[in-house]
Amino acid sequence: MLITGASGGIGFELARLFARDHHNLILVARSGDRLAQVASELRALGVTVHTYAIDLAAPNASKLLFEQVQSAGLTVDILVNNAGFGAFGEFAQMPEEQIVGQIQLNITALTELTRLFLPAMLARRSGRIMNVASTAGFQPGPLMAVYYATKAYVISFSEAIANETRNSGVSVTCFCPGATDTGFAKRAGNDRSRVFQQFGAMSAEKVALDGYRAVMEGRTLAISGVQNWVVAQSTRFAPRKLVTAISRWVSEPTS
Ligand SMILES: NC(=O)c1ccc[n+]([C@@H]2O[C@H](COP(=O)([O-])OP(=O)(O)OC[C@H]3O[C@@H](n4cnc5c(N)ncnc54)[C@H](OP(=O)(O)O)[C@@H]3O)[C@@H](O)[C@H]2O)c1
Repeated sequence: MLITGASGGIGFELARLFARDHHNLILVARSGDRLAQVASELRALGVTVHTYAIDLAAPNASKLLFEQVQSAGLTVDILVNNAGFGAFGEFAQMPEEQIVGQIQLNITALTELTRLFLPAMLARRSGRIMNVASTAGFQPGPLMAVYYATKAYVISFSEAIANETRNSGVSVTCFCPGATDTGFAKRAGNDRSRVFQQFGAMSAEKVALDGYRAVMEGRTLAISGVQNWVVAQSTRFAPRKLVTAISRWVSEPTS
C-alpha cells in the first residue's frame, strides 16, 4: 500500500495501523530523514517499507512517483492520499506560492495519483483508495478560503468516483477528520484559533483508527468523531451565510 504524508501526523498513524495488519508499505513525504526514521520503526513490525522523498506540490511529482514505483516493480493495492496542508490568512494577502501549493498538493496530486493508480486496480478488480478530506470541506472557510475549498473538491471528487467504481471491486473512501492534534495547525498558522484552542482537537491515533476502519469497510464517506459528524450535518440545513459566519468565528484566534 502507498500512503502520502506518512512522515508524521495522521499519515504516520495510518501507516502504523496498516503495518500492524501486515501490509507492506510505500511511504511518501518531503523529508527523507523523517521518512527513514519512520521506516525503521515500522520495519520492526515485520513489514517491508519503501520510502520516496518527493515534494508532491511540485509539478509532475505524481507522475515521477508513479514511474519510480512502477520501475521498482511494486504493486499498489491500497492508495491513501493523505498529504495536505492549509494556510491561514485573508485571501487577498496570501502569498501566491501558498495558494498554488495548497491546490497542487490537496487537489492536483491527489487527483493525479488516483488517475495513475486506479486503472490497474480496476483491471485486478481489487483495490482501495482513501482520500483524506476534512470537515472543512462541508462549508466555506473565511480566513482559510483556499484550504476549505480544496477539501470541498476532495469530498465531491471522491464521492463521484466512488459511484463510478461501484461493483468494480475497488472502493473509494473519503475520510474527513476534524481538528486533530498534529503539526498541521502550526504549519497552517491557525494553532491559536478557537477550533484548536477552545473546542479541542482529537488525537492522531484515534482519528487514524477511524480512517483505517472506514477504508477497510469500504465506506464512501466517513467523518471522524461524533461531534464532527453532528457539525457537518448541521451545515446542510442552516442558512449558508450563517454557516459561513460561524465558520469564520471558529477559525479566528482566541487572542
Ligand atoms: N490536523 C488537522 O486538524 C486536520 C483536520 C482535517 C483534515 N486534515 C487533513 O489530514 C491530512 C494529514 O494532515 P496532518 O494533520 O497529519 O498534517 P501534518 O502533521 O502536517 O502531516 C502532513 C504530512 O504530509 C506531508 N507533506 C506535507 N507537504 C507535502 C508535500 N508538499 N509533498 C509531500 N508530502 C507532504 C508531511 O511530511 P513532510 O513535511 O516531510 O513533507 C507530513 O507527513 C491532510 O490532508 C490534512 O488536510 C488535518
